[in-house]
Amino acid sequence: MNLPVKYRPKTFRDVVGQEHVVRTLQNALRHRQISNAYLFSGQRGIGKTTIARIFAKGLNCEKGITPDPCGKCEICQEIESGNSLDVIEIDGASNRGIDQIRELRENVRFMPVKARYKVIIIDEVHMLTNEAFNALLKTLEEPPENVVFIFATTEPRKIPETVLSRVQRFDFRPLSANTLISRLKFICQKEHMECDDESLKIIFEASEGSMRDAISLLEQAYIYGNGKIEATTLREVLGIIEDEIFLKLFNTILKENTAQILRILREALSKGYSLFDFHKGLVKAASSLMEAILMGEQNPYTQFAGKFSEIDLLYIFKILKDMEQTLRLSNYPRAIFEYELIKLAYIKRISPARILSYQGEAEQKGAFSSMEKTINSDREKREFSNNSPVNKLIRELNLKEVRDGPF
Ligand SMILES: Nc1ncnc2c1ncn2[C@@H]1O[C@H](COP(=O)(O)OP(=O)(O)OP(=O)(O)O)[C@@H](O)[C@H]1O
Ligand SMILES: [Mg+2]
Ligand SMILES: [Zn+2]
Repeated sequence: MNLPVKYRPKTFRDVVGQEHVVRTLQNALRHRQISNAYLFSGQRGIGKTTIARIFAKGLNCEKGITPDPCGKCEICQEIESGNSLDVIEIDGASNRGIDQIRELRENVRFMPVKARYKVIIIDEVHMLTNEAFNALLKTLEEPPENVVFIFATTEPRKIPETVLSRVQRFDFRPLSANTLISRLKFICQKEHMECDDESLKIIFEASEGSMRDAISLLEQAYIYGNGKIEATTLREVLGIIEDEIFLKLFNTILKENTAQILRILREALSKGYSLFDFHKGLVKAASSLMEAILMGEQNPYTQFAGKFSEIDLLYIFKILKDMEQTLRLSNYPRAIFEYELIKLAYIKRISPARILSYQGEAEQKGAFSSMEKTINSDREKREFSNNSPVNKLIRELNLKEVRDGPF
């Protein structure tokens, strides 16, 4: 099926979310205030390439420069199918070098073949070498007429200041639960697929706001479940452990019952969850606990407000951090992971001063940075993408990832 490709928006109207980007680009087209270079930044699968192509159509549609490209004329169709000689997409990751950029500079000196503007879309532009960036900069300093560059990146911080200062930048946002879920519902309806609200919520959480991941996941779950999408199966395949287990774990920690703590972990492992799944779930649970305690948020962990202190939270996160290290580096991850977990039972016996000194030590060593990455909601900072539920599912089902080329 390849639903992400099938449901790639073809007009600005079809795009969901990213209203700030769409509105500004449509206004630019309407008033013909076209910049020479744009930067689209944001996590994967949220519409950067999609909007770049629609913008290219808006510049080149046979109707004239327009905020509502027709999608039907020859030029719009060629852009849509990736066959336009004037709209060129380059993958920055595999064309990183100076030679490729020189070739590109050569190319943009010529007038567009058929269209009004040459549009050069460079994906993952942060991957370019320094020399390549310098060469690109020369073009940006004296931009040829009728050429528009659109750079897309998931890591804007890796782009040199000199380039950043010459582009109009748009920060794309992860899609909100409402926006993403209603798009999934729309697709389900069109495809006659059934998916209940709980499953949709799980898909949203697993996709971390990426529309492409969410649609792929919907599709994979549909195939895996033989046409039936069920929350339980979804959770199993994604390695998502239910809150209930962690609520039980925190209660057991308060009771200092080490044997029971081990039993909880082993039960999860026997159900097929990995240590990594358990850790990930526990990080999420601890974050909810923190929100309940520090921010008074109402969630399943609110029952522990007053039972765990702020200092306890520091200790919990210190252990989570150690566990992460264990999972990465230890030759005996399971045994050491269990040892770390048991330490949680001693939470009330360790003096606050000692916990604070742990933190000091950890911070001095810069050890906290990797923990921050796990809990930080800033998607750009994530380094876990290889272990993201979607990737995991793809591996488990032995599926080839569907890269979405031109539709
Ligand atoms: N804002 C959106 N509205 C509707 N569909 C979207 C949106 N963003 C992404 N999609 C869906 O996800 C697919 C991939 O989107 P797109 O290629 O634009 O992502 P991207 O931001 O360029 O990601 P990457 O960084 O991986 O290149 C689209 O084909 C479409 O199905
Ligand atoms: Mg893209
Ligand atoms: Zn057109």
